[in-house]
Amino acid sequence: MSDNWVRACAIDDVDEEDVIRFDHNGQTFAIYRSPDDEFFATDGLCTHEKIHLADGLVMDDIIECPKHNGRFSYKTGQAKGAPVCVNLKTYPVKVEAGDVFIGLE
Ligand code: FES
Repeated sequence: MSDNWVRACAIDDVDEEDVIRFDHNGQTFAIYRSPDDEFFATDGLCTHEKIHLADGLVMDDIIECPKHNGRFSYKTGQAKGAPVCVNLKTYPVKVEAGDVFIGLE
């Protein structure tokens, strides 16, 4: 587990089955809230053409990129088919006192 937890947002900042963008130290992340009310974090940019995934669509455990409709599992980062073939990096998440933290290296 990480020892560098960074506050990304409040839990109420993210609707269920939605995603928001979070920038920190020049890096962009995407923070997801699943339909069963769990939080996840990945790199914020699609591995295909560096498009912001927070502008994409969340469906169940999938994030669909807004540019070419590439899909990833936001829980595992796994690329789910063309045109995306490089997995997304994922980050540990914890929720404490109404805030969402992501664990950075
Ligand atoms: S930029 Fe995301 S699928 Fe092409």
